[in-house]
Amino acid sequence: MTTLLNALPQTSLNPKLDLAWVRSQFPSLSRVINGQRAAFLDGPGGTQVTQSVIDAISHYLKTSNANTHGQYATSRETDEIIYGARSAMADFLGCDSDEIVFGPNMTTLTFAISRAIGRELGPGDEILLTQLDHSANVSPWQALEERGVKIQFVDIGEEDCTLAMDDLARKLSPRTKVVAVGYASNAVGTINDVRAIVRMAHDAGALAYIDAVHYAPHGLIDVRDLDCDFLACSTYKFFGPHMGVLYGKREHLKRLRPYKVRPNTDEAPGRWEMGTLNHECLAGVTTCVDYLAELGGHSSQADSRTSDEGVQPALGIEPKGRTTRRDLLRSAYRAIQSHERDLSLRMLRGLSDIPGLRLYGIADPARVSYRCPTFAIRIDRRHPAELAKQLGERGIFTWDGNYYALNLTERLGVEHDGGFLRIGFVHYNTEEEVERVLGELRSLI
Ligand SMILES: Cc1ncc(COP(=O)(O)O)c(C=O)c1O
Repeated sequence: MTTLLNALPQTSLNPKLDLAWVRSQFPSLSRVINGQRAAFLDGPGGTQVTQSVIDAISHYLKTSNANTHGQYATSRETDEIIYGARSAMADFLGCDSDEIVFGPNMTTLTFAISRAIGRELGPGDEILLTQLDHSANVSPWQALEERGVKIQFVDIGEEDCTLAMDDLARKLSPRTKVVAVGYASNAVGTINDVRAIVRMAHDAGALAYIDAVHYAPHGLIDVRDLDCDFLACSTYKFFGPHMGVLYGKREHLKRLRPYKVRPNTDEAPGRWEMGTLNHECLAGVTTCVDYLAELGGHSSQADSRTSDEGVQPALGIEPKGRTTRRDLLRSAYRAIQSHERDLSLRMLRGLSDIPGLRLYGIADPARVSYRCPTFAIRIDRRHPAELAKQLGERGIFTWDGNYYALNLTERLGVEHDGGFLRIGFVHYNTEEEVERVLGELRSLI
């Protein structure tokens, strides 16, 4: 099977992550469990939040708590909060504010889009999904089977858990109306070549729906460059509050018909937002994007302190003109990726030395940029839940099971037996934490 992947950009000009500054922004990182500093290796399930996010949420509730579109100060402030969050997420995803829809989480937003698209589908139509995806990008589409829509699945290469692109090409046809695929796997960390997949979907006349929930904390997303029709993510996976965010091309958000209540606006994007939004969390959404932008500024400063004279600053920022929030986000993600690559390489090296351990997903250090720092493992005769519990008692937070990547655990034959132990790193994790979890795994076997 041929596989094609979207490597993280490799550059020697990456700005350096200011890790001390990063960790000082997250109050929970100083928690102590059973006398040991907590190691949050559960980022794929949800990341920690910065003090600035906590402050923004409580400030909104203290000062501006109201419903929208009223003729008084707190209501106008609430409108501004929503406007600000749309603008922040537009910078985050590389689109315009009116292409951003908020909802309680990615799953709910995906059901809203699948129901609306489903209104126009019936027998003879097909939807292409993958064995690698989280159920949130599977079940909403599978629900359309009751309308007579046929669901197909792209298989994986079992040896490294990458998508079988030849299988994808084979299953695409003029009958395919939607291709729904993850940007990166929340279970095994594979990064898919979504740009190529979007192109293939469009060539077949299908819409492309991207689940970027797992990718968002690890890499900069550019929806214009991907040319996807929809892309969904969740801010609680990238250092913000529990909220879902959907990008939709303006033409689709206007043309498709959502299920909505009559008095709600029929203008996009508001027509896709059911009922009252979580305003306090929207205040936190802007702040988590601003945190990443600030990190970009910090990283570039750290970089310019350490770089040689004459070396071009690694910002991706135009030397002329104003530095935008998007520029700073680009810089932040370069620093994040460089740091996460170091963590991954150390982890891959360490895991390969542990007898009886099997890593699912890309294991070759030379292909490290084709994966996120998310590691799914099993150890001979040890149940993943038991390992996770023992690590948890030592202050190391990991996950066990299928984490809703249910097709994958079934496909790999591990569902009946506890799934995987998942160890996930994000940019606030340290090399010392990598060594610590490796040491504990060695001692547990
Ligand atoms: C890859 C992926 N997609 C979708 C989801 C669902 O996101 P939400 O909880 O926002 O519905 C998750 C949650 O873990 C995920 O990891």
